[in-house]
Amino acid sequence: MATIWNYPTRVRFGIGEAQNTGNEAKTLGANRVLVVTDRGVVAAGLAQRITDALTQVGLTVDVFDEIEPNPTEANIEAGARAFNEFGADLLVGVGGGSPLDAAKLISVRAAVALPFEALDDSKGGDRFIPQTLTPVIAVPTTAGTGSEVGRAAVLTVESTRRKTVVFSPAMMPKVAILDPELTRSMPQMTTAATGFDALTHCIEARVATGDHPMADAIADGGIELVVRYLQRAVSDGSDMEARGAMMKAALMGAVAFQKGLGACHSLAHPLSAEFGTHHGLANAVCLPAVVAFNLERAADEYTGAAAAFGARHVDELPAKLATFRAQLGLPDGLSAIGIPRADLPRLAGLAFEDACHHGNPRPCSVADLATLYEDSF
Ligand SMILES: NC(=O)c1ccc[n+]([C@@H]2O[C@H](COP(=O)([O-])OP(=O)(O)OC[C@H]3O[C@@H](n4cnc5c(N)ncnc54)[C@H](O)[C@@H]3O)[C@@H](O)[C@H]2O)c1
Ligand SMILES: [Fe+2]
Repeated sequence: MATIWNYPTRVRFGIGEAQNTGNEAKTLGANRVLVVTDRGVVAAGLAQRITDALTQVGLTVDVFDEIEPNPTEANIEAGARAFNEFGADLLVGVGGGSPLDAAKLISVRAAVALPFEALDDSKGGDRFIPQTLTPVIAVPTTAGTGSEVGRAAVLTVESTRRKTVVFSPAMMPKVAILDPELTRSMPQMTTAATGFDALTHCIEARVATGDHPMADAIADGGIELVVRYLQRAVSDGSDMEARGAMMKAALMGAVAFQKGLGACHSLAHPLSAEFGTHHGLANAVCLPAVVAFNLERAADEYTGAAAAFGARHVDELPAKLATFRAQLGLPDGLSAIGIPRADLPRLAGLAFEDACHHGNPRPCSVADLATLYEDSF
């Protein structure tokens, strides 16, 4: 059954809701729609469902499908050229976090000529982004990043080779369409890794510094959904109840991390920028060590997560997370994903430059981040 929420943006949730993409686009006044996606999503037949829904209501549609996982600046520039050549007045991102972020970044590039390095949120880049951008509809096909309800997007900038966050309230999609059917074809490993990203968002937000009771409550709710449903979604990709619950958990993670993230995301970002590691997988590998490191400062804040994982004491949470990761079939360390040990000190320097750890409940030095990589090896 279809549900509509207006929090934190307009969200349509339900099996078959992808069909309403055309109606939503028309309501936004669109005539020419650029669908931003990737080849895997096209191959799974998902982009076609959305272009059909758009053309059926009389809209003119073009598809840009050259977004790579962990999108690069070159991907966005190519997408922006396609946007300009086609003369689009609406962007529809269809896919995981990579195409959704790309659609948001193309809307920024269409309005701002500055290089993305200058738009880096950690350097105050948000001040260059105007209040009104070409509208974006986000249609997720993974359940992890929550980019569909977020005001940020991540790309790897060429000059710095760094995963860079671009942020503006104007980047919030006008509509998010969450159709669990679109995640049915997601492979087991991607389901597990993206689900771990949602879990990491909730856990990091829950303990991030700052007073944000709304984010805390949503984070705890998201953790409970992941514990109940991620294994089911991995074991049986056709379990639509589990698929839908994971889409909700991903949405809740992104709402919660408005409060902030933590050291795990700072450790994850260089792994993706340097080695192309999937973002959720990078988090999964590092999260238990980060939670163990933070326990002395955030034991109370981790209580809800510990209880959700059935721990008798909060100290057991890192081990519970490692067991959960193993049950999902995910690799258990950096060595298992081919990261060379000799690179860890250099990666720690890059992780330190990433802004996410500024929200971590226990401050991190470069040496701490190097130890966390070692503990995650
Ligand atoms: N904006 C944010 O707030 C935010 C938050 C977290 C992560 N991210 C970013 O999101 C990106 C990761 O996104 P992701 O984890 O969703 O992965 P992704 O978008 O990179 O997709 C991973 C792979 O899965 C395939 N795929 C996606 N949906 C599928 C489906 N239903 N069936 C078959 N194949 C499918 C894609 O083709 C791709 O090959 C990273 O760049 C990360 O930094 C952004
Ligand atoms: Fe993430």
